[in-house]
Amino acid sequence: MKIAVLKESAAFESRVAITPDAVKKYMALGASVQVQSGAGVASMISDEAYQVAGAIIAPDAASMCAAADVVLCVQTPDDATLKTIPDSALLIGMLAPYEPSTDLSRFKMTTFAMELLPRISRAQSMDVLSSQSNLAGYRAVIDAVAQFGKVIPMMMTAAGTVPPAKVLVLGAGVAGLQAIATAKRLGAVVSAFDVRPAVKEQVMSLGAKFVEVPAEESGDAAGGYAKEMSDDYKRKQSELIHETLKSQDICIATALIPGKQAPELITQDMLRDMKAGSVIVDLAVTAGGNCKSAVMDQVVEKYGVHIMGHSNMPSRAAVDATPLYARNLYNFISTLMLDKEKKLAVNWDDELIAGTLFTKDGELKHVGVKAARTPKEAAA
Ligand code: NAI
Repeated sequence: MKIAVLKESAAFESRVAITPDAVKKYMALGASVQVQSGAGVASMISDEAYQVAGAIIAPDAASMCAAADVVLCVQTPDDATLKTIPDSALLIGMLAPYEPSTDLSRFKMTTFAMELLPRISRAQSMDVLSSQSNLAGYRAVIDAVAQFGKVIPMMMTAAGTVPPAKVLVLGAGVAGLQAIATAKRLGAVVSAFDVRPAVKEQVMSLGAKFVEVPAEESGDAAGGYAKEMSDDYKRKQSELIHETLKSQDICIATALIPGKQAPELITQDMLRDMKAGSVIVDLAVTAGGNCKSAVMDQVVEKYGVHIMGHSNMPSRAAVDATPLYARNLYNFISTLMLDKEKKLAVNWDDELIAGTLFTKDGELKHVGVKAARTPKEAAA
């Protein structure tokens, strides 16, 4: 098995799909590994470190990909790089399958989008959404605190008492739960809100208050994800969030519905009523944002509220995000793509392979993407 690892070309991307440790593990399986020169630099991994682990450093993507069986990446490569990948190769990475502009069916190689991995317990060690969202939740709190002009914990001093900061987390999935834990560790008073009642216990076990909409409806959908809620629920939810936000200092917004626009949870009226100087981090900005005033990759100020819209939060913790991501990919490949002799042999019958298969022989294989490409979705 010949593995090629690309240097990322997307803006704000500091991660890479392999570490020296993973190089050693692939080589122990009998694979050879080529890494594009400079691929690890932004994650603090030098070419020399890869070489010491046994990888060959390739000067460019074209020379490396020509003979590759497996090409690893973090984000979808640019077109020039995609053209260098042979039809026979497998491309594995976070290929943005719900993004209408990601049309990999223009190419013949087989692609696997790790975001599509079914979230069953056997897949936990391969789950890139979890490993990366966890760091995003942590980093969102750190960014908000750095932006904020107030200290987080309560401080009792001779000169007076500083009250603790109040943090509201919208969406208590993987990122949200880590944001809650991080804000609690810093000493904030934390509240959280989610449409899935199942998370109430998890929120409370982290010491946060669960803000609950008085309704019969549950937001639970298949696979632990959320569904879109009724208009009546949305109205009640909006009133409750509006009231809660008035007293908060920081809001970390993480609410997502896979394959759809993120729900708008923070409206202009709510922003107007927030305390001046408060901070919102919108982790849903790439899916349209939980706050429509969030601007991708900018910090904007509206009604005295700072709104942070970093599009790639895990990359802001790349030194830790890279090893976790690299391990996810290694677990995926070593578990599902090798035969008894450790030769490349994709187990097409496995539901994890079927679930992550994105395109093959110039055809889209994931129904979510086909659905997202209706004219209405494309216009959204
Ligand atoms: P996500 O990133 O898709 O969404 C983030 C959160 O936003 C979710 O908790 C969702 O319920 C919430 N949300 C959606 N619409 C909302 C709204 N209108 N208002 C408030 N909150 C809203 O979800 P994530 O973080 O990827 O995980 C979702 C769940 O998946 C986990 O909590 C867990 O149950 C399950 N999971 C299972 C795994 C496994 O078994 N291997 C691994 C990781 C997660």
